[in-house]
Amino acid sequence: MIILNVVGARPNFVKISPLLREMRRHAAIVPLLVHTGQHYDDAMSDRFFAQLEIPAPDYNLGVGSGSHAVQTAEVMRRLEPLLIEARPDLVLVVGDVNSTVAAAITAVKLGIPVAHVEAGLRSFDRSMPEEINRVLTDAISDLLFVTEETARENLLREGVAGDTIHFAGNVMADALLASRPRWQASRIVEQTGLVPGRYAVLTLHRPANVDDPAVLDEVLAALQELGRHLPVVFPVHPRVRPRLSIPEAAPGADRGLLCLPPLGYLDFIALMSRARLVLTDSGGIQEETTMLGVPCLTLRDTTERPVTVSHGTNRVIGTRPRTIVDEGLRILDESPRAVAPPPLWDGCAAHRIVRTLLDEHLAGRTRARTQRAHV
Ligand code: UD1
Repeated sequence: MIILNVVGARPNFVKISPLLREMRRHAAIVPLLVHTGQHYDDAMSDRFFAQLEIPAPDYNLGVGSGSHAVQTAEVMRRLEPLLIEARPDLVLVVGDVNSTVAAAITAVKLGIPVAHVEAGLRSFDRSMPEEINRVLTDAISDLLFVTEETARENLLREGVAGDTIHFAGNVMADALLASRPRWQASRIVEQTGLVPGRYAVLTLHRPANVDDPAVLDEVLAALQELGRHLPVVFPVHPRVRPRLSIPEAAPGADRGLLCLPPLGYLDFIALMSRARLVLTDSGGIQEETTMLGVPCLTLRDTTERPVTVSHGTNRVIGTRPRTIVDEGLRILDESPRAVAPPPLWDGCAAHRIVRTLLDEHLAGRTRARTQRAHV
């Protein structure tokens, strides 16, 4: 069974790592890896491949940065001839980035079945590019692997056939658990001069929060106020870097923010694992803080990952400056509480997914479904 896996951006790399490791354990599977090149530099890509022990891609499409239409179109244009040549039995995509939807469309139009890992998540906010990518990818995928029960409910409501949906757990949790000894060995907290349990971590990169300088300034002002109570460490995403007046790696004590360059996977998980709290607008970090048992404040109005609120450590608080400061201070007053990970976030998601892929392939089910759709 030839499975062609497509990744493009930083969160994809984390998700594909346990899946490729599992696929390589099965002699019946030939896993191919395509990197679209959506993220391309050392900090956003190469370092993740090395730290997550992902083999070098078989193909790199080199699409780079661009508008949404350009990025999506370039992935489609460059992937199509490759799929025609490699003729995989299945294309596997993860997450919700532009590369995900582009690869899914290209494959189904060639009659190649698509498996989507991390299907069914919905913020119900169509102003988010990722929400469009999720809805479209799920609508055309043949196998949908969900991380939480709400995702299955969302898919059923959208008319997806129940027998194509599989509750497999969370491959982000697999990656975090598998690499635990290595991130526990990281010295990033000491190297940055921080005291374990006495700092906050901030990440921001959503267009809604960072593209409008007025919104970004307001949010950062609130975080500077919080920074008067405990240092706020801010590894800066390249999307935000040109919009920031604070220099990287400068303590910026008066502003309460310690800006760092983007960190590798192991250092970043280590930094979060020993933080007092994490503030973020990322999707994956809501899940990782839940796994780590670290309080998380999500600086958005919605989450597509409600299990991190019902079972985890997450609170969705929006971006009003007063609320950010008040909620941050509230966490400092609370004693940390233990949480159990959500159902099936147990380190075995990749195993369940690959088992299902093999079973479906052997039963000839995925192929049959796709061909029916093309009649
Ligand atoms: C993308 C994903 C988002 C994901 C995020 C993780 C989409 C629509 N968005 O957003 O879901 O959470 O990745 O990081 O797919 N850049 C670099 N080096 C790189 C890559 C990008 O400097 O290796 C810079 C470029 O200036 C680029 C900007 O970062 O314009 C944004 O990159 P892009 O891939 O367009 O979107 P992200 O904001 O990273």
